[in-house]
Amino acid sequence: MMQNKHILIGITGGIAAYKICSLIRDFKKSGAEVKIICTPNALNFVTKLTLQNLSQNEVYEGEFTPQNWKPEHISLSDWADIMLIAPATANTIGKIAQGIADNLLTSVACAFSKKMIIAPAMNCNMWQNESVQKNLKTLQARGIEYLPPEEGFLACGYNGKGRLCSLKKIYNAVDEALNYSETLKGEKVVITAGGTIEEIDPVRYISNYSSGKMGLALAKSAYDMGAEVVFITTKDFEVPFKKVIVKSALEMKEAVEKEFETADYVIMAAAVADYRVKEQSEQKIKKGDEDTITLELVKNPDILADLCQKKLAPHPYPLPKGARERNCIIVGFCAESENLLENAKAKIEKKGCDFLIANDISRKDIGFNSDENEVTILDKNGNITKLEKAPKKIIARKILEWISTK
Ligand code: PMT
Repeated sequence: MMQNKHILIGITGGIAAYKICSLIRDFKKSGAEVKIICTPNALNFVTKLTLQNLSQNEVYEGEFTPQNWKPEHISLSDWADIMLIAPATANTIGKIAQGIADNLLTSVACAFSKKMIIAPAMNCNMWQNESVQKNLKTLQARGIEYLPPEEGFLACGYNGKGRLCSLKKIYNAVDEALNYSETLKGEKVVITAGGTIEEIDPVRYISNYSSGKMGLALAKSAYDMGAEVVFITTKDFEVPFKKVIVKSALEMKEAVEKEFETADYVIMAAAVADYRVKEQSEQKIKKGDEDTITLELVKNPDILADLCQKKLAPHPYPLPKGARERNCIIVGFCAESENLLENAKAKIEKKGCDFLIANDISRKDIGFNSDENEVTILDKNGNITKLEKAPKKIIARKILEWISTK
């Protein structure tokens, strides 16, 4: 719902600027208030009069024509619930990443501390430029969401990745961001992601196909819902919250347990190896004359089951510094290639967690490394709820809403 929400749109100097006119209409039709800031170059592609008529508001361009006592860049950023920059050129992306504030749009961006979404559009070679990619990573690490451009015919005559993504995608991203409930405000949420890496020797390892995408989506959604997030991951992502990179199951266990006493939620989306090599070789294992060799594996501790035991155990008194009573909600994930529900039911019972999210990894369109998922939520009271196939971002949000309100 966008009714009465304040959307501040920054338009920069790219040909896709003309497309934003329809988007302004869509936001207005949904009941939002829209204000627009243009960089001087944006007005080479679209007129002030058009934007003014569509937004039913004055279009802001210069920094030195304040309407009231507050400087424009501050009053606009105070006014907005969300800031959208579309299209975002390589130039503006670079300036925002470096904190340059040399026009009204970049000054507002510099002062803006609420949700910001950018939709880049540019020539495909510019898009691939190392500096542009690096700048985008910097923005992501600050919590700014970007909607990647799409492949296709570009106004410059090239064919490639660089077109502004669809207006529907931009509309949905803004709508979603405006409707995040702050149900996790003040809560500490610890989330694990990725497949653990169990070394055999300095060259080889045992791992699995987990990309960390599901865990990342959960961490980002929890952050958007106001949580203090601790993200314990085997994959390195740019994130605006605390990140702990680990490799093996043992390292993950240590990192999770360090955060557990002060956590309100622990969500184990990581695919943890059940076994590790008994003795890692310090040197590369050489090929010998044997046709077969045997690796001896030993069981890894079950991080999730151990946490659930800890939660049940009596509190150590006095409580460790900063620790709270043990009412943390513990959520496990399970990846099954057959008999999904049957195995999930047995697993929630065995591990003792509050919720278990069952994933069908026999399908290629969901689960490991895909952008979408379809899951079933089980709780310890035997309730079962299915979440239909959707982008992992949506699934993540629904899971968090579910576990935080049940
Ligand atoms: O990362 P993606 O590519 O996006 O894919 C997402 C996913 C499919 C990996 C993810 O959604 C998922 O299902 N993660 C759990 C995978 C898994 O390890 O399932 P499991 O059934 O083996 O383990 C059950 C639970 O116990 C998990 O919460 C796991 O983190 C935990 N566990 C397992 C073994 C172990 N030694 N310690 C654990 O804590």
